[in-house]
Amino acid sequence: MCSIIGYKGQLIVAPVLVDSLKRMEYRGYDSVGIATINNGKILLKKGVGKVVDVNKNLDLSSMDGHIGIGHTRWATHGGVTEKNAHPHYGCTDSIAIVHNGIIENHSELMEELIELGHVFKSDTDSEVIAHLLERYYAEHKNIKSSMIETCRRLKGYYAFVAAFEDGTICGSRYNEPLVIGLADTGYFISSDILGFIGYTDKAIFLDNRDIVVLDSKTLQIYDQDGKTVKRTLTQVAWELAAIDKGKYAHHTLKEIHEQPSVVEKIGIQNLDKIEEFCSILKNSKAVFLTGSGTSYHCALIAKHILSNFAKIHAETVVSSEFQYTLDGIDNSSVLLALSQSGETADVLQAVKAAKNVGAKILSIVNIPTSSLAKISDSFLTIECGPEIGVAATKSFTAQLSLIYMIVDTLCNGYLGFKVNKQFLVGALREALDYEIEIRGIAEKLRDARDIYVLGRSIHYPIALEGALKIKELSYIHAEGIAAGELKHGPLALIDRNSYVIIINPNDSTSDNNIASAHEVKARGATIIGISNTPNEVYDIFIKIPFIQCNAIYPIIEVLPLQILAYYLSLVKNIDPDYPRNLAKSVTVK
Ligand code: F6R
Repeated sequence: MCSIIGYKGQLIVAPVLVDSLKRMEYRGYDSVGIATINNGKILLKKGVGKVVDVNKNLDLSSMDGHIGIGHTRWATHGGVTEKNAHPHYGCTDSIAIVHNGIIENHSELMEELIELGHVFKSDTDSEVIAHLLERYYAEHKNIKSSMIETCRRLKGYYAFVAAFEDGTICGSRYNEPLVIGLADTGYFISSDILGFIGYTDKAIFLDNRDIVVLDSKTLQIYDQDGKTVKRTLTQVAWELAAIDKGKYAHHTLKEIHEQPSVVEKIGIQNLDKIEEFCSILKNSKAVFLTGSGTSYHCALIAKHILSNFAKIHAETVVSSEFQYTLDGIDNSSVLLALSQSGETADVLQAVKAAKNVGAKILSIVNIPTSSLAKISDSFLTIECGPEIGVAATKSFTAQLSLIYMIVDTLCNGYLGFKVNKQFLVGALREALDYEIEIRGIAEKLRDARDIYVLGRSIHYPIALEGALKIKELSYIHAEGIAAGELKHGPLALIDRNSYVIIINPNDSTSDNNIASAHEVKARGATIIGISNTPNEVYDIFIKIPFIQCNAIYPIIEVLPLQILAYYLSLVKNIDPDYPRNLAKSVTVK
């Protein structure tokens, strides 16, 4: 969602803020703004667009001072306009704030403040925070008290950082992340460790409703009643700083190419934890799996292999629906939640609902310091490094590989993942060699209106995932369909303009897939086969390597779909790292 950053220290603040915002831009990229404090005055600049563009137009990095706050936005309340970009002042320019989250009672608070004479300038829910601070600061003449009073009034979920003209920076959070970075050159308050990881690896993760005040002398953390609290200092991984694109044109392409090495490393450091997961899964009466978007597609494959190889029946529920389907989950159940970010609001809500009925929580995350990891009874990390491209790629193959490790352990190797892992890594490298051919196919599909992706059994979730990648990266309408369902309705959509991708490695689903391919071909569609074996029914053939163990094909066959989606974005002049209307970490419900 939005990213927020505050800095106070020895460095000239504006370039530091711009650098931090660039690193966190994957969270939201509609508009950008920074405010700096110099000689008791707050100076603010903001604009619509990505950090580099706004910086080019407004020269944000030329602002003076050593104290400041900054923001990149993913619009929730109010359109994508300059006036709605953060930071927001109150009535005067003595206080400015940046906010991530949603203030649910903003209308009620606004009415109250308007009665008191406050004038609002934006259409956002966030601006109310600046006015509340202004109101309580006028009453108490004390920053800490005005923070406490303001936070007491806010309903919803938030992380915000406020700058006062005297040079004090404050922040608070409730169900949105806020982390302090302690560098030799100063203090950071950020929504994400990427906001400061280039400067320090020492972090303090604030608890819900903590209030941090950074005045001229000290950094203090208070609870909601104003009592000083101590929070643990955590050393975060420096590797997270590695977020440059290297030789690649985009993060998305780099992350696609990182997959063989990500899979190679998977689970190695986690063997004891994997055993612990296995024992919890084996000993619980009911297993539920949840996640959103791509992580949910991983959960669908997990259900298949848990059932087929470990003989453990599991229910999958997409996280946004979880709260409506709580029947059957109780204190003898386990919920396994999958989330790259570990901050997805829908996933956290599902986990809280399951926790409330006493279920045990297991999770698989990329970020060990994430909210999901913290509220889980046990968690495993996929350790694929930061994923910056908004479309999940390497985190998906990493999640899948870890799930395969777990299931292979549960069934004592019967699945064959561990013994075939090195072949898999080789096959992934081989699959990447088809990049040039797939780029050519993307050229042919440039004007496609509809792309259907078909798969059966364990390949159906990959059909869903492939379609999701195509829609989010190319804005072409794409649908994943269980191939057997074609004749029950979707066939009516097929005509000469349709493109149909069939995921068809040579396994037990193959003959039926070929039959489905003929059915759609007879209606004029162009057929793209993803398979290890050519077939005359395919108009276009994307080859994937042979592998002995059929069950692990999903990890391979998703690669050509990711590459196709990536090149479709390029032929359509879309920035694949920042597709419109999306954000990497969806922390709103
Ligand atoms: C799709 C995509 C999203 C995420 C979803 C869940 O490419 O990235 O669908 O998979 O928002 O995110 P996490 O895994 O962080 O919970």
